[in-house]
Amino acid sequence: MDDPDGYFGERVAATYDESSAEMFEPDVVEPAVDVLAELAGDGRALELGIGTGRIALPLARRGVVVHGIDLSHAMVARLRAKPGGDAIGVTIGDFATTRADGTFSVVYLVFNTIMNLTTQAEQVACFGNAAAQLEPGGCLVIEVALPDLRRLPPGQNVVPLHTSSTSWAFDLYDVATQTMSSNYVEVIDGRGEYRSIPFRYVWPAELDLMARLRGLRLRARWAGWTREPFTSESRGHVSIWEKVE
Ligand SMILES: C[S@@+](CC[C@H](N)C(=O)[O-])C[C@H]1O[C@@H](n2cnc3c(N)ncnc32)[C@H](O)[C@@H]1O
Repeated sequence: MDDPDGYFGERVAATYDESSAEMFEPDVVEPAVDVLAELAGDGRALELGIGTGRIALPLARRGVVVHGIDLSHAMVARLRAKPGGDAIGVTIGDFATTRADGTFSVVYLVFNTIMNLTTQAEQVACFGNAAAQLEPGGCLVIEVALPDLRRLPPGQNVVPLHTSSTSWAFDLYDVATQTMSSNYVEVIDGRGEYRSIPFRYVWPAELDLMARLRGLRLRARWAGWTREPFTSESRGHVSIWEKVE
């Protein structure tokens, strides 16, 4: 990837809010903001991969001081252009290693953003970086999907996400390396355009071990932001680890 903005450069940023419109719906955003505002309390919140401010802006409107880290200038420019966007501090850099000033009551990654780190070493580094920026007793929150491996019979490595006469989206899995990619093909003006984003999927137990390695202890795990129980049928989870005092 040559683009310094990574996989969320100008082309993706230009249509990000529109193409993720369902994730901007109040019934998706508000429960997340409720949880994060409660965890922030009177302290500050740090969003790793703040993007265009889907969660940061409504959280800031609740009176929480929010700071973000992101490597994409293009995504952050969209945040800046929104009402209230200029009041949110952003540090440009890799959230596995980049530090913001000061400490935070809550550090969070939502919408599968932990999977944008495509190696285990980077994901562990991210836990370390988050822990280092938390106050004692502060919390790291991660919202992430589980891999759809139950839809893969032996010999198959593709899960279709969407098909129409002009666009196709599919996830490609490599269970040997725990890597996957989301792939999009779209016909525009009679020509096919292809885009692929790499991920590393990660299991809840593995995340718990990464947390433990960096002095964090699991406080809660839910199937979603409305705190529903996490079960063997859950498709993803919201997990909260606290920094051991
Ligand atoms: C799926 S988007 C989520 C954006 C926002 N949190 C939301 O919920 O809409 C992932 C964001 O993380 C950023 N990102 C991905 N990998 C990163 C990294 N290693 N360091 C910093 N930012 C990264 C991308 O630029 C993008 O803005």
